[in-house]
Amino acid sequence: MSGETEPQGVSPLRLDSIEAVLQALQGVGYIADRALATVIFLALRMGRPLFLEGEAGVGKTEVAKAVAALLRRDLVRLQCYEGLDVHSAVYEWNYPRQLLRIRLLEARGTEASDARAAEQQLFSREFLVQRPLLRAIDPPGGRAPVLLVDEVDRADEEFEAFLLEILAEYQVTIPEIGTIRAKEPPFVILTSNRTREVHDALKRRCIYHWIDFPTAEREYRIVTARVPGIDERLAREVCAVVQRLRAMDLYKLPGIAETIDWAAAMVALGRREIDPESLDQTLGCLVKYRDDLEQVRRSGLRELVSEVKAPAAR
Ligand SMILES: Nc1ncnc2c1ncn2[C@@H]1O[C@H](COP(=O)(O)OP(=O)(O)OP(=O)(O)O)[C@@H](O)[C@H]1O
Ligand SMILES: [Mg+2]
Repeated sequence: MSGETEPQGVSPLRLDSIEAVLQALQGVGYIADRALATVIFLALRMGRPLFLEGEAGVGKTEVAKAVAALLRRDLVRLQCYEGLDVHSAVYEWNYPRQLLRIRLLEARGTEASDARAAEQQLFSREFLVQRPLLRAIDPPGGRAPVLLVDEVDRADEEFEAFLLEILAEYQVTIPEIGTIRAKEPPFVILTSNRTREVHDALKRRCIYHWIDFPTAEREYRIVTARVPGIDERLAREVCAVVQRLRAMDLYKLPGIAETIDWAAAMVALGRREIDPESLDQTLGCLVKYRDDLEQVRRSGLRELVSEVKAPAAR
């Protein structure tokens, strides 16, 4: 290792080029395209949060897991939902433990003069329960983790404003304890499925990237990486079918998760290539709405299968 200090968040691995990031991601099983590797490289270099948007199942959450693995950092995940409040996201007091301590103090017959000290003790770090945002700012192991704020579009707008504040300062103020500031900022990845637009102010703070469905070639590489032992031909045909389904006007297009599931199902059924009967039996791995199922079946499974067969195999 050279003696120079590394930019914050960059691991001992030499992530000094887009190519290096691409390779490192592949090393932890994430098959990215160059555009995604570029924004990850930039976010690490510039110490900025990464904001990932895209359809369901295109690999947004997995980016955070992969980046944590390649940086060899812990992953702290905050799953957002409607009604998520600061207490569930940042910290809570351990009430049962506090109560126990109060009982103990009562049993000992605490003097009035001790009451103030007892109160201070009850609101000390000993009784503090760290939730994901505080854990990311004040990690137990000391090293800044990767913080995943997953599906931020599901949280309320007030929470979004609060998040903006945290991302600006990487600090949390707890009235009873004081301000806790991150020694080293975590590497932050936010994801959104775009069920609503996230405010510009939050996006502005981040490096933004839209993750598209993969090309057939990249999806083939993902399938062979994720479904060990799959036949090359089956993997190609699986990806070709999925590409065609994504060109249809379905309510919910299959994501990469569905492709992997379907490929694994075909392997479990002992298939080495696709055929209309197996497609019919396993269509539920790919398409999860009744109307979509009917539409795909109406469009003709036999035709769909014959279209994706390599000319020599037809
Ligand atoms: N580029 C990739 N390389 C390897 N595996 C991938 C890739 N993209 C997605 N996957 C796999 O696809 C699955 C779905 O990915 P993930 O859960 O990250 O999608 P998502 O975009 O977060 O979906 P959702 O919007 O439903 O939360 C995971 O099992 C993941 O391992
Ligand atoms: Mg996700």
